[in-house]
Amino acid sequence: MRIGVLTGGGDCPGLNAVIRAVVRKGVETYGHEFVGFRDGWRGPLDNDTCPLGVPEVRGILPRGGTILGSSRTNPFKVEGGVERIKATLANDGIDALIAIGGEDTLGVANRLHQEGVHVVGVPKTIDNDLNATDYTFGFDTAVNIAMEAIDRLHTTAESHHRVLIVEVMGRHAGWIALHAGLAGGANVILIPERPFDIQQVCDYIEHRYRTHYAPIVVVAEGAVPVEGTMAVKEGAEDAFGHVRLMGIGQRLEEEITKRTGKEARATVLGHIQRGGTPTAYDRVLATRFGLHAIDAAHNGDWGTMTALHGTRIELVPLAEATRELKLVTPDLYAEAEVFFG
Ligand code: F6P
Repeated sequence: MRIGVLTGGGDCPGLNAVIRAVVRKGVETYGHEFVGFRDGWRGPLDNDTCPLGVPEVRGILPRGGTILGSSRTNPFKVEGGVERIKATLANDGIDALIAIGGEDTLGVANRLHQEGVHVVGVPKTIDNDLNATDYTFGFDTAVNIAMEAIDRLHTTAESHHRVLIVEVMGRHAGWIALHAGLAGGANVILIPERPFDIQQVCDYIEHRYRTHYAPIVVVAEGAVPVEGTMAVKEGAEDAFGHVRLMGIGQRLEEEITKRTGKEARATVLGHIQRGGTPTAYDRVLATRFGLHAIDAAHNGDWGTMTALHGTRIELVPLAEATRELKLVTPDLYAEAEVFFG
């Protein structure tokens, strides 16, 4: 078989480990051939390919980013997009695609599968919000980066008696905030799933000062206040309809300073959470996903995605994986709340 591989959406530590595992097992065990598509769905749309064999994947296991490039191109928003992709596959003699991505990239993969394209998905996102898999690779790396930042901020917060706010990624789901906040001993964790009461946040902060420690607030970028209690800004939308988020950390800085009279300062971790080398956990998970994805393609299990269930890698329908996002549940948030204040 001749198989096309692409990586779409926000990049994520571990993407190269998946590509390497797919190609190594695909070539060495099954004798398949590979073609790389550049920049997510833009590659097959524009027939932009690159060689992808064992030499191309040498040495990429620890490298962050993706050797194939990525984009947030949505072929269903492009006139004749599906036909263009089908034409590319036919012209290049490509029998199947392995699409590595999050909810958007895999949502497209699922729709293409329904249109008869042979496709297998691999879940990636630092946000860990894909349904039907316990974890996605990239999440562990992002959490460790955020935890290290929180550890460092604790000491400077103490020196200056400041409230330090750490804004982490997580547009719809607060997994990074929850895990990094728990691991880093945050005094308040704010996530998109639970609109926050700014007065209660300030009460926690003041309580923390009464115990002679400086508070750390961890906030997911998509966290929102209870409606009507605090103004927030919104930006433009991307091709998948996601609003560009505009500075909840900075808004909290202003509001906390105003309400408590304490100096509050925000640190936005941003793309640092997505860059650099993956942790060992993410390298292993990404490698295992890659090995199982090429097995799935070899066996013709089209329309499926590799998923982690406990310690096992299993296949789930792409439709199930992209039906809804996996959000932080109230019971998990309640576990973290024990440490607030
Ligand atoms: O989906 C991964 C992610 O890093 C989100 O946490 C974040 O909201 C988004 O991508 C940012 O995307 P971009 O880099 O395109 O601004």
